Amino acid sequence: MNTSYLPSVSKATDVGVLSIHGKNDQFLTSLIHEVRNPLATIKLAVEVLQNSSTDHMQKRYLEMIMKSNERINDIITHALASFHEIYVLKEYPLHQLVEETLNANADRFFLSHVKITKNYTRLASAVLVNKEEIKTALTNIIINAIESLPVSGGELIITTIADDGKCTLVIEDNGAGIEKENLKNIFRAYFTTKPKGVGLGLPVTLSLLASNEVNVRVQSERNVGTRFILSFENRHAKIY
Ligand SMILES: Nc1ncnc2c1ncn2[C@@H]1O[C@H](COP(=O)(O)OP(=O)(O)O)[C@@H](O)[C@H]1O
Ligand SMILES: [Mg+2]
Repeated sequence: MNTSYLPSVSKATDVGVLSIHGKNDQFLTSLIHEVRNPLATIKLAVEVLQNSSTDHMQKRYLEMIMKSNERINDIITHALASFHEIYVLKEYPLHQLVEETLNANADRFFLSHVKITKNYTRLASAVLVNKEEIKTALTNIIINAIESLPVSGGELIITTIADDGKCTLVIEDNGAGIEKENLKNIFRAYFTTKPKGVGLGLPVTLSLLASNEVNVRVQSERNVGTRFILSFENRHAKIY
């Protein structure tokens, strides 16, 4: 493919699309923690009142406050646990991330008659990433690939390379390709060449990849196809 492009993260930050993740997570996590403090105070105060009250009705109301307090605490604990589950960095085999993404989009492949070819390295490699973020990024790239394919004969080639302590994932299609002058714009927010496109898939993808220390390069040639080359630069990446 004759044209290659290496985006910089600032391409998308200029329009403020990138900050949607990290900041929100931090905000919500600290909000959840903050709510716990006044709840603990309410509990202590209610306990004091319960011990000093002899009034039957008053005791019942205090019991209701106590139960509701516990309920809010449970909800918060549960929310915090799910946040950590969703947003935490963990080590995953690269092939597992790819397979889960492909499976999640299996219906689309079927409906678009896409042939998928996998060239997986025999070396098992693991990457330390936020799973959901990486799957979202891969899905965006794959959906674009599908959308570029011809009605018949469309192919998606997934290649993994483990080399030099680094894992590389290549997602390639034999679709319409990208005009040379458009290539530098594809990561810009709201850039789209599709009649009903939104132009946010790739800027969000770039942001997600950057926050997981994954570099991306794009090669494309009109009427030949497009290749997204992702290299997992994370120093925790492991090859066995
Ligand atoms: N695999 C691909 N083949 C051809 N063009 C692509 C490919 N991936 C991205 N593009 C180009 O990049 C543009 C931006 O993509 P994206 O940010 O996902 O927005 P959208 O899909 O809504 O247009 C697309 O409109 C298309 O022109
Ligand atoms: Mg898209």
